Amino acid sequence: MKTGHAAALAPPASGRGAIAAAAEDENPRQAVGDYSFVVVASRLPVDRVEGPGGGPEWQPSPGGLVAALEPVMRAASGAWIGWQGAAGAPPAPFDTGGMHLVCVGLSASEVRDYYEGFCNATLWPLYHDVIVAPEFRRPWWQAYLQVNRRFARAAAEQAAYGATVWVHDYQLQLVPRMLRERRSDVRIGYFAHIPFPGYEIFAQVPWRRQIIEGLLGADLVGFQRQGDTMNFLRACRRAAGLATKGSLVRVPDSAHGDGGNAVGPRSQPRRHAADGFAAGRVVGAAAFPISIDAAAFGELARREDVRARAREIRAALGEPEIVFLGVDRLDYTKGILHRLTAYGELLDEGRLGPESVLVLVASPSRERVEHYRALRDEVEVAVGRINGEHGELGNPPVHYLHQSYPREEMAALFLAADVMLVTSLRDGMNLVAKEYVACRQDETGALVLSEFTGAADELGSAFLVNPHDIEGLKDAIVRAATVSPRDARRRMRSMRRRVREHDVAHWAATFLDALKQVPEQGQLLAASAP
Ligand code: F6P
Repeated sequence: MKTGHAAALAPPASGRGAIAAAAEDENPRQAVGDYSFVVVASRLPVDRVEGPGGGPEWQPSPGGLVAALEPVMRAASGAWIGWQGAAGAPPAPFDTGGMHLVCVGLSASEVRDYYEGFCNATLWPLYHDVIVAPEFRRPWWQAYLQVNRRFARAAAEQAAYGATVWVHDYQLQLVPRMLRERRSDVRIGYFAHIPFPGYEIFAQVPWRRQIIEGLLGADLVGFQRQGDTMNFLRACRRAAGLATKGSLVRVPDSAHGDGGNAVGPRSQPRRHAADGFAAGRVVGAAAFPISIDAAAFGELARREDVRARAREIRAALGEPEIVFLGVDRLDYTKGILHRLTAYGELLDEGRLGPESVLVLVASPSRERVEHYRALRDEVEVAVGRINGEHGELGNPPVHYLHQSYPREEMAALFLAADVMLVTSLRDGMNLVAKEYVACRQDETGALVLSEFTGAADELGSAFLVNPHDIEGLKDAIVRAATVSPRDARRRMRSMRRRVREHDVAHWAATFLDALKQVPEQGQLLAASAP
């Protein structure tokens, strides 16, 4: 699977840009690795489990991203660089499922300052329209620099000469440039899984220019929605003073970080005034809405054990007429309190009664971050109030589950639910909406979907809502619960078609094709708009 390329050496590092150079980065010579396709993501695509002898073992985690990239990984000699999700020394690299896995270790203080701090108490709220106030702390930024540098170094070590490296998400925005500084021979893609905010919000971050420069180390920067792309292009102009033309950004020679310290020499053809740009690199930006492995969810939903489990769930709930379902990480971006407010008021007003139940799966997430702890308390108070006021012995209207479940159980829940409630206040995509649709093979069921999700761009046949408008949300919940079978089928059929035709494999292929084209063509395939 390896390319067997002989290790090449680069000259000593010099002339680093603003986001380079700390002690651990002073690696004077850059060896070239063996892997021609490298994924760099915050998490590894495996879960650490206890083996039979009590020692740690790794099990593939069945995420859509892994499923989509697995064929590319197998065909192209793939490595995946990520974090194991807990503080401590990383295990040695290992091979599994046709992939080479390289774990980047984080110390306890890096988990606090980088992961819980800069990623999830600065960037996450900032990029989700400041639903809660982001905190800007300088030591957190230092930790972000340090950890991004470590990921970039690992990528540089694994990538073969001329490899494609695909960097994922907000935790690693500096990696593209840091990697380019070491390895100008590689082709770099970056995909933002979460929204990119409007400039007035983005401008708050004290390190906005460094973040833009970090991202522009890539050849292609992908987003979920066209609006995110526009916000990014504007930030390139405003925060970094760069020229943009259509979906392209010109990065002048001085700002693209391959100033002599990298393995070379893949560089794009220099563009001239005739192209509308002066000399320099050209970076593409476009929308590539992510999706799910729709066929895998369809298969799960056809399995007899999963269907039996769905029946069991409805029986355990007391065979209600209508099962409403919400499935989210317990996160303030998901609008869980708005959903509970609407549901509670519908019960208060008698518009819903004991014939319906709400199953609320809120899986634990980022539990040491203050806003997440506070949200958990608020959700549990709200659930307790509704159940206290409207429940009967053995028959609460809200079944709240602060737990994570395997995919089989999720598919059974999707099959058991008549109405799926997705009420995010801001959401890059919301894959749960697509998973629900993919499981509804008999074309029954209804989806209430926030217009502030990426999924709303594609699933226009859902009952679209503004979750801040509680009256509108209540009306949509009632309409979804009482939709005629014919209308439900029409809506579900069109959503299912979209999810089937634009699955995660389509997403990955579209992005990687566009990445190949950036330097040669200077134009991008715009993502397939719905
Ligand atoms: O959507 C962004 C994301 O980082 C996903 O990639 C991930 O599944 C989720 O948020 C939870 O992230 P984490 O548990 O790593 O903080």
